[in-house]
Amino acid sequence: MSNIDPLTFPPGFLWGAATASYQIEGAAAEDGRTPSIWDTFSHTPGRTKGGDTGDEACDHYHRYREDVALMTDLGLGSYRFSIAWPRVQPGGRGSMNDKGLDFYQRLVDELLEQGITPWVTLYHWDLPQELEDAGGWPARDTAHRFAEYAALVHGALGDRVRHWTTLNEPWCSALLGYASGVHAPGRRHAPDALAAMHHLLLGHGEAVRAIRANDPQAQLGITLNLYAISPADPARDGDLEAARRIDGLANRIFLDPVLRGAYPQDVRADLAGISDFGFVHDGDLETIAAPLDLLGINYYSRHVVAAPDPGAPVEPYWRAPTSWPGSEDVRFLKRAGVPVTDMDWEVDAPGLTETLVRVARDYPAIPLYVTENGAAYVDVPGPDGQIDDVERAAYFDAHLRAALAALEQGAPLKGYFAWSLLDNFEWAWGYTKRFGLVAVDYTTQQRTMKTSGHRYREVIKRNGLAQ
Ligand code: FCB
Repeated sequence: MSNIDPLTFPPGFLWGAATASYQIEGAAAEDGRTPSIWDTFSHTPGRTKGGDTGDEACDHYHRYREDVALMTDLGLGSYRFSIAWPRVQPGGRGSMNDKGLDFYQRLVDELLEQGITPWVTLYHWDLPQELEDAGGWPARDTAHRFAEYAALVHGALGDRVRHWTTLNEPWCSALLGYASGVHAPGRRHAPDALAAMHHLLLGHGEAVRAIRANDPQAQLGITLNLYAISPADPARDGDLEAARRIDGLANRIFLDPVLRGAYPQDVRADLAGISDFGFVHDGDLETIAAPLDLLGINYYSRHVVAAPDPGAPVEPYWRAPTSWPGSEDVRFLKRAGVPVTDMDWEVDAPGLTETLVRVARDYPAIPLYVTENGAAYVDVPGPDGQIDDVERAAYFDAHLRAALAALEQGAPLKGYFAWSLLDNFEWAWGYTKRFGLVAVDYTTQQRTMKTSGHRYREVIKRNGLAQ
C-alpha cells in the first residue's frame, strides 16, 4: 500500500499501550485472589532482583481510575491488559470469584466510558499455584483448565470486550519457565518445557474454540514474541545453521502450529534427542490451528547468532543458554557499535520491519498488531521532577518508522501498543528496569508522564510522525 504522506498511518490504525496484571496490579492477597506461580517465585529467595515481588507493584488495583485518566490524557484508542487468573478463579478450578471479577468489570466500564477499547489478554503468566502443583503446563490437564477459565472470563466480559488475546508469549512461559527456569515456576527440564509449549498452544486452541462458539464476532488472537534473527556471518554455513535453529525455536515452533497446523519438521529433528513429541495427540494440531482473526507480535530486538565454537567464550547474551534446548551451544553475539537498552537488548528497528514483512509473507492473510514494543532505560528525573527520556522516545520513533516501512511493503499491520503504560515489575528484574511512558514512584505511587509519553500523545493525535 502506498500512503500519500509517508509518515502517516492508515485511517483507523489502533493506537494503544499495554500492561500485565502481575506487573502492575498489586493487591496480591485481596478480595479472594490466591497465589500464582509468580507470587511463589518472587517470594522465593534469590529468584528476583533484590527479592522484589508484585505484592504492591503499581497498586493499579486501587488506582485504576487514575491510570485510565492517564490513558485518556495520552489519547489511547485501546488498552491491552491481562486478567490475573487466580483473582477471578482462585486455585484455577471451579466457579468465579465475583469480587475479583468485579475489578475487571469496573476497569472495562471505565475504559468504555472514556472511549478506550479494552483488549484483554487471558494469560500473561499468572498460572494459579494449585495448577502448577498439579503438574503445571507440562501436564495436559492445564490446557483444559485454561480453556475453561477463558470461557468463564469471556462469559463475564464478552458483552463489552471484543478483542481477546489468549496467551502472551508462550515462548517465555514454556522455555524461560520450564527450561532455563529464570521465570516462574523456575523449573529446569527441557523435555517438560517442550510439553509445556505444546499444552500452552493446545490451551490456546481450545480457548479459541470455546470463545468462538459463544461469540462468533469476537476478535481472537495470540501474542508471540518474535525476533529478527540473523547469522553473524551470512557467508558461513555454521552461522546460517545457527540462525535456522534459533529462528526455529524462537519463531517457527509457534507460528507454524498456530497458523499452519504443524510443527516444523526441521525443528522437530533438532529436538529429537530431547523429546519425541509424544505429547501431541490426534487432533491437537487441528485444535491449535483454530482460525484466528489477528496475530499479536511483541517485538523488542534481534538475535545475531553464530556457530558453536568451543574455543570462543560463549556470551549468554539472551538469558541462559538452557533457554534453547538442543541448541545450547549456539553463540548469541553482541554487535560492536550497536546501542543497547538497559536490558542489554540491541536496538534494532529494521528488525521490526523485517519481522512484520516476514510474517506477512510466510503466513499470509492474517491481520497483524504489534501488541508490545518498547525499551528500558535508566530514567533520571530533572531538577523539576520531569523525566526527559530522550532515548526511549527515540526508540519509539525509530520503531514507528519501521512499522511504517512494513506497511509500505504490504504488511497488514492494524495497530501498535507501546510497552508499557507504566513503569512496572519487570519479572526477574524486579523494579530495576523501567519501560513506562509514565514513571511510577514506588514509594508514593505518584505517576509522572515522561517525554516519551508526551511524544506518543502527539503521534496518536496526528496518526503519524511529525517529520
Ligand atoms: C515481554 C513481556 C512483558 C514485558 C516486556 C519487557 O516479554 O511480555 O511483560 O516484561 O517483555
